[in-house]
Amino acid sequence: MNAVAEVEQVAEGTTGSRTMKALVQEGRGSADVLHLREVPRPALTEGRVLVRMRAASVNALDWHTTHGGLILEIASKIMRSKDEPVRGVDLAGTVVAVGPGVTRFKPGDDVFGGAIATFAEYVRAREDRVILKPHDLSFEQAATIGVAGRTALQAVRDHAQVKPGQRVLVHGAGGGVGTFAVQIAKALGAQVTAVTGPRNVDITRSLGADEVIDYTREDFARRPQRYDAVIDVAATRSLGTMQRVLTPNGVNVQVGAAKSGGFIGIFARIIALMVRSRLLNQRLKFFVAQSTVDDLVYLKDLIAAGKLRPVIDRTYPLAEAREAVRYVGTGQARAKVVVTA
Ligand SMILES: NC(=O)c1ccc[n+]([C@@H]2O[C@H](COP(=O)([O-])OP(=O)(O)OC[C@H]3O[C@@H](n4cnc5c(N)ncnc54)[C@H](OP(=O)(O)O)[C@@H]3O)[C@@H](O)[C@H]2O)c1
Repeated sequence: MNAVAEVEQVAEGTTGSRTMKALVQEGRGSADVLHLREVPRPALTEGRVLVRMRAASVNALDWHTTHGGLILEIASKIMRSKDEPVRGVDLAGTVVAVGPGVTRFKPGDDVFGGAIATFAEYVRAREDRVILKPHDLSFEQAATIGVAGRTALQAVRDHAQVKPGQRVLVHGAGGGVGTFAVQIAKALGAQVTAVTGPRNVDITRSLGADEVIDYTREDFARRPQRYDAVIDVAATRSLGTMQRVLTPNGVNVQVGAAKSGGFIGIFARIIALMVRSRLLNQRLKFFVAQSTVDDLVYLKDLIAAGKLRPVIDRTYPLAEAREAVRYVGTGQARAKVVVTA
């Protein structure tokens, strides 16, 4: 069924099926716990739109949530997060119905942004979490922007406060957040050094990095160069090493979670960060990206100005979304991985 016919049918309440396909998490441990199931469509509520998902990108978060672990379970209990069994937090698609109080969208609008449970044919999204999709941006491209684009923007522009002419090191430049961070730092006028693996050297160079260092061939920390800002997406090197490559007033923005030691490793690094910044007064920042539509608009404008380009490695149909999550979990994905429906 084409999108227009579907919008008309949903708006008139004449669609036969009230169910949809979704990638449901049943248990924890590996991508094997993800299964394509027939589940009820989300009900529309106040301030929400129902979106027919066309594309949704995979984030490290989906992998972490799938793999779980005791600490994640305790953290979600403390934060009282609702136990949502469907993975996916980014989407692009077509609005098929709007809930009470919705003023910004109507059925038929193509939108993109963030929502919960986006690895599904239909997604309920807050109207203040999505924006209109430009016609010249594909659904797949638009679906990559939400978490990775906003995280990179907030790291580079807000936390590092990068200024024209500054030297910026992006460590782990080839993944979802990294490829956005390189381009945003360039757009803000910085001189960018990208540190990445051999698979992503070409991509990061094509995105405008002034220098690219392959971490399997050279240790960036041995170079004499000092940086005004380090955007650490990879989090594979010690905080002390990252501190040593900064200028005296330089800032280290920690984006990524530690890659070794499981959740104990992640929390140990966060505690070390807090100790260094509070007790040793080092310019070290750790943040959790915020969902603001203003940032989506900013990123959309950068794309329209030709300063930002979403990069897609692989696209998987919804029926194979489990493999998409598995692939992102290998740490070998190049830029973004997208699921389509
Ligand atoms: N703070 C926040 O709010 C926030 C928001 C979103 C994501 N994150 C975190 O940011 C990280 C990246 O997320 P993502 O979605 O971009 O994931 P991704 O697309 O899977 O990227 C994985 C990253 O890990 C790097 N990496 C893996 N092995 C490495 C190694 N041996 N040395 C150096 N780099 C290595 C990759 O760099 P190369 O490809 O260049 O090798 C790439 O940057 C994750 O830890 C995620 O949890 C944090």
